[in-house]
Amino acid sequence: MSDITVREAARRRTFAIISHPDAGKTTLTEKLLLFSGAIQQAGTVKGKKGGKFATSDWMEIEKQRGISVASSVMQFDYFDNVVNLLDTPGHQDFSEDTYRVLTAVDSALMVIDAAKGVEAQTIKLLNVCRLRATPIVTFMNKYDREVRDSLELLDEVENVLEIRCAPITWPIGMGKTFRGVYHLLNDQVLLFDAGGTRLPHEFDIIDGIDNPRLDALFPLEIEQLRNEIELVKAASNEFDLDAFLSGELTPVFFGSAINNFGVKEILDALIDWAPSPRPRHATVRDVEPGEDKFSGFVFKIQANMDPKHRDRIAFLRVCSGKYERGMKMKHLRLGRDVAATSVVTFMAHDREIVEEAFAGDIIGIPNHGNIQIGDSFSEGEQLAFTGIPFFAPEIFKAVRIRNPLKIKQLQKGLQQLGEEGAVQVFKPENGADLILGAVGVLQFEVVAHRLLTEYGVEAIFENCAIWTARWVSCDDRAKFAEFQKATVHNLAIDAAGSLSYLAPNRVNLELTRERWPDIVFHETREHA
Ligand code: G4P
Repeated sequence: MSDITVREAARRRTFAIISHPDAGKTTLTEKLLLFSGAIQQAGTVKGKKGGKFATSDWMEIEKQRGISVASSVMQFDYFDNVVNLLDTPGHQDFSEDTYRVLTAVDSALMVIDAAKGVEAQTIKLLNVCRLRATPIVTFMNKYDREVRDSLELLDEVENVLEIRCAPITWPIGMGKTFRGVYHLLNDQVLLFDAGGTRLPHEFDIIDGIDNPRLDALFPLEIEQLRNEIELVKAASNEFDLDAFLSGELTPVFFGSAINNFGVKEILDALIDWAPSPRPRHATVRDVEPGEDKFSGFVFKIQANMDPKHRDRIAFLRVCSGKYERGMKMKHLRLGRDVAATSVVTFMAHDREIVEEAFAGDIIGIPNHGNIQIGDSFSEGEQLAFTGIPFFAPEIFKAVRIRNPLKIKQLQKGLQQLGEEGAVQVFKPENGADLILGAVGVLQFEVVAHRLLTEYGVEAIFENCAIWTARWVSCDDRAKFAEFQKATVHNLAIDAAGSLSYLAPNRVNLELTRERWPDIVFHETREHA
């Protein structure tokens, strides 16, 4: 390990924001960027419904529908640290993409709309974080509005999400009487002031909860507030770094993203407490971030993010060492070197050529379809990073095209969209129509839109009698061949070339399982 790779890895923080749609993820992202100085003017990037669009919203369809479809990546400096922020689609129909983004982060920031509390998508996302014991920082948003009782909110997080809460700040009032937040560790009151242009250091701070200035400012409320703080201190968990790092306890902050209020405190918590890149599991060994040699894995592929660049970008999380412009990286699945001269980094809309990158960074490798989700790269060592799953789809459609002359474009488009993970594509062994599988209905709309705009194909999706898919494997070659022969009408190959069994209903799947006890039916597929 060299000093530089160890030091650079240690100053990186790579996290994602997770939330239910409308909780304020986009707003918060913009504010974090604003504070870092990455964008200068607040409000230029907000307002999906108002014609303008968020920096993190890339695709046309997002603007049309006002939801974040694609995940994007932003890198910025914050004092001595380098922050990589991975955006995730909030809509549940794109949860597959989100799940995989969460495999590439070291911590997560959970945003909750304090008027609504814990919502469905938050529960799902937190469960995914739990799979890797990802540390979570919580932000209760929208205190400039009437919201629910703060203690009740903490209770809900603890009970529904099964994670202990340690409030770090505490709100003083809400809505019209929102006065600010009290920092329980610093014993300081940060005074609220509405408006979206104020920078963190422009809010007034009063030292000490017993400070007479507070009595002068809020004569009617201050006694009650002091009592409440006493109660909160006595009733809630103290912050414990180890419990946070093992994903058992979450520090909780309160504020209003749209008013830039309480946001800096979260960023500071992520810098001070969230982990720098951790060792990663690979097939042969665990890989340390500070190792000299470069390695990483692809967790996401996206095509045509910017009409000016009509290529596909593979998002690679650097796991160790140093990437340098022009270095040779080995694409381990194909056993080939990739000339990495045009590797890019991300600042929402803009892409810049990367000169160097270290563990925790996300780099983008332009390619023409030879990189798939889950692919590992190294300087030559045969490492395959594990834990990047595909999930069995829940909805299936058969694909037809209006103009049969476009069949080639359709196949190409679906092959690429399949490799990207935008949708799962199954080619039945008996040669019938291609079958698309998705976790959410909206994925089909995106695919139809993209087939039309990117490949010029008008596709028609029809319902089909498939209930679920299971990837199949068997150690006994002869048995496997026998199985394949007997069930050929139910078998299909996915975009990565893996064999799967398409079951028309639950009973069929159960009976097939019973009949073929040597065959393993997998609900998720790790990269081959
Ligand atoms: P998302 O990415 O999680 O889906 O949420 P987003 O940031 O788009 O925020 C959803 C809505 O909540 C936005 O309103 C946004 O302005 C509002 N919002 C975010 N933070 C706060 C906050 O601290 N206080 C209040 N009161 N609102 C907040 P919108 O969809 O654009 O509608 P509109 O209210 O602007 O008409």
